[in-house]
Amino acid sequence: MDKRIPKWLNDAVFYEIYPQSFYDTNKDGIGDINGIIEKLDYICGVGFNALWINPWYDSPFNDAGYDVRDYKKIAPRYGTNADAERLFKEAHKRGMHVLIDLVPGHTSIEHEWFKKSCLPERNEFSDRYIWSNSIWQEITDAGSLKGISARDGAVALNFFSSQPALNYGYYNRTQDWQLPPDHPSCLATREAMKDVMRFWLDMGCDGFRVDMAASLIKQDPERKGVMELWKDVFYNFLDKEYPEAALVSEWGNPSQSIGCGFQMDFLLQFGNGAYNSLFKVENPFFSKKGKGDITLFTDIYNKLYRETCEKGLICLISGNHDVFRLSRKFDEHELKVCFAFLLSMPGAPYIYYGDEIGMKYTENMISFEGGYDRTGARTPFQWDDSFNAGFSPNEKTYLPVNPCYKEINAKKQQNNPDSLLNTVKELLQLRKKYSALKAFSKYQCIYAEKDKYPYIYKRSDGGQEIAVIINPSERAEICQNVELSGEVIYSVGKPASFNGGNVTAYPQSATLILLK
Ligand code: NOJ
Ligand code: CA
Repeated sequence: MDKRIPKWLNDAVFYEIYPQSFYDTNKDGIGDINGIIEKLDYICGVGFNALWINPWYDSPFNDAGYDVRDYKKIAPRYGTNADAERLFKEAHKRGMHVLIDLVPGHTSIEHEWFKKSCLPERNEFSDRYIWSNSIWQEITDAGSLKGISARDGAVALNFFSSQPALNYGYYNRTQDWQLPPDHPSCLATREAMKDVMRFWLDMGCDGFRVDMAASLIKQDPERKGVMELWKDVFYNFLDKEYPEAALVSEWGNPSQSIGCGFQMDFLLQFGNGAYNSLFKVENPFFSKKGKGDITLFTDIYNKLYRETCEKGLICLISGNHDVFRLSRKFDEHELKVCFAFLLSMPGAPYIYYGDEIGMKYTENMISFEGGYDRTGARTPFQWDDSFNAGFSPNEKTYLPVNPCYKEINAKKQQNNPDSLLNTVKELLQLRKKYSALKAFSKYQCIYAEKDKYPYIYKRSDGGQEIAVIINPSERAEICQNVELSGEVIYSVGKPASFNGGNVTAYPQSATLILLK
């Protein structure tokens, strides 16, 4: 497959926005699209040049908008379709690109398609979802919903009980009600999703973050069916009609996703464990305790990188709306070292709103809109130390503001050269200045040993080479037989030093060296 890669991805640094918690302009306590527009200059000012916006569609919000009621309508609480169009224009004016969240695997039970699918009389939407023949016949692989309408049958779920799975067919069929992917009803589902993509791409969006991208074809253990669907159907469609559109998958297995048309995939908290070994396990590599094991990351990452580097990007995340914030385990200095890594690795980095200032995960929150333990990572952005952290003048906000906002807020950090925010800014400036640090520039692992620190890698592009030495631990670490010499262009903490084939990485430091 000749892969189509939009040029802008090589420079892209994404900022993920959970719209309900970003900035409220009409004073109802909920973030809105106009709020994103008003804050574009802040986002650009930090150095981000691309956005991923979580679902903003009309929804009953049982799963924060991942339960879509109408794919073509902005949820009134965020504004109007005209606001969305204006956001795309305003972003483009600033040279930014915008991905929106596409949820192709399921809808809300309140979607019109589902209401029609529930009718006992056959109609166009009867097979838009997956129904067994009788309500006593459970659908076991994804869970099912039954006894909800006059139509006989249980209906397959994709995630929560309010999110029935759209029907793209079964790869292995064991029951007569399991349709093949090329059944006319499954073809109609594909067409409906293409229609949704066209709608937003025509309005001006630059592509999609695809929710649960691997979930579309059922009983597909090796994912052959779903890979075919992405490659032969959706990728070809975009290639022909929207060659500049970009796709990032929530898949967590770049060898598969990048092989079937996605230009980007995330390393995530589920799947292969590489992401968790850095940030989430009991002894993560990035903790200053220095008890992590970088090979749990590099054994997986280096292999994935070799398999995919010509065709797409493995994207590292600072966090997202589904995981605890990094600052739950790490202090500000530890976070700076994390960012030096996140922003100097290959791939397009995705920074979750608020992580650039070290916003806290709020502990023990009561679940809201299907957040459960994710709720604490979804609180309002902390702009300044005024009422509600400057997020909204309304007494009641979407979620309560984390009480740490007097200490941790964007305004305060903007004025402090040593802040996390300014570290992120400086790292983003370097990424812009040095082509060796761009998304597609080469990566080579130089030093990564089991249970040892530091981690050293090289980035290069043409003649330019940069070495990155990462030592999150609070011990100085010496590694032998690594020849590096050049000019230190940036460091968090004291810059590493070199002496006849030995590198000393000082406690809690990250150093970037321009080799040539
Ligand atoms: C993944 C999304 O990131 C998550 O927030 C959502 O709940 C599920 N997919 C279901 O759409
Ligand atoms: Ca609002």
